[in-house]
Amino acid sequence: MSIMQVHDLKKSFTKGPNTIPVLKGINMEVHEGEFLSIIGQSGSGKSTLLHVMGLLTHPDEGEILYGGERIDNQSERRRDYLRNHDISMIFQFYHLLPELDIVENVLTPLMISEGYWKFRFNAKEHRERAKELLDRVGLAHRLKHRPNELSGGEMQRTAIARALINSPKILLADEPTGNLDRSTEGGIIDLLRGLNEKEKLTIVLVTHNPSIAAGADRTVSLVDGVIE
Ligand SMILES: Nc1ncnc2c1ncn2[C@@H]1O[C@H](COP(=O)(O)OP(=O)(O)OP(=O)(O)O)[C@@H](O)[C@H]1O
Ligand SMILES: [Mg+2]
Repeated sequence: MSIMQVHDLKKSFTKGPNTIPVLKGINMEVHEGEFLSIIGQSGSGKSTLLHVMGLLTHPDEGEILYGGERIDNQSERRRDYLRNHDISMIFQFYHLLPELDIVENVLTPLMISEGYWKFRFNAKEHRERAKELLDRVGLAHRLKHRPNELSGGEMQRTAIARALINSPKILLADEPTGNLDRSTEGGIIDLLRGLNEKEKLTIVLVTHNPSIAAGADRTVSLVDGVIE
C-alpha cells in the first residue's frame, strides 16, 4: 500500500537571469513500511526533492499525497502539524541545538507540538521517553552531553532520536551518513534498518553512495530531474 505519492513534481531555482530546472516532473510512490533509497549524483536535486516531500519547501508544480490526502497545498498550520507528527527528517549536518543537552534536543519537537505549559506539565514523562529513545540509539551514557561534546555518529543518533519523539510514520533522511567514516556510517544504516524492520517505520533515504543505497529494500535513481 502506498503511504506517499509524488505526481509530476517540478521545481526550479532562479539565480539572477538564470532559471535552473532541478526537478522536471518527478513521479514516485513510497510504500508503507518500506526502506526506499533514492540515489543520484551531487547536484541532481536529491535534497530539493526530499525538502519538498518533507514540506520544507513548496513545489512549482505537481502534487504530494500522504495517506491519500494532498498535502503540498495545505495551510502552513496543517503542514507544520504534519512535519511535527507524521513526516520527520534527518540531515547530513544534524541540525542540533548547541546550547541544549541531548535529552533537551530530543524533546524539542514535543515542546513545539504541545506548547510551553502542556509540555511543562508532562515534562517528567517526556524526559523518560526521550531517555528511552536515546537508549534505543545507543546513547544512554551521554545524556548530559551537548552536541559539541559528541562524535558525528553520536550527533546523528541524537538527531534520529529527535526525529522519532513524536512517533512519525515516515522518516526522510538526507544523506545522513555523508559526514561520517565508514564504520560509523554502517552503524547508522543498521540503526535505520532496525527501525524499519522492528518499528515498521517507513524510511526514504537519499544518497549519492551506491553502497549506502544497497542497504535499502528498493532503490530508485534521480537523473536529469526525473526518477528513472
Ligand atoms: N536555494 C537555491 N537556490 C538556487 N539554486 C539552488 C538552491 N538549492 C539548490 N539549488 C541548485 O539545485 C541543484 C540541486 O541541488 P540539491 O541540493 O537538491 O542537490 P543534491 O542532489 O542534494 O546534491 P548533494 O548530493 O551535493 O547534496 C543544484 O544545482 C543547486 O545548485
Ligand atoms: Mg543534498
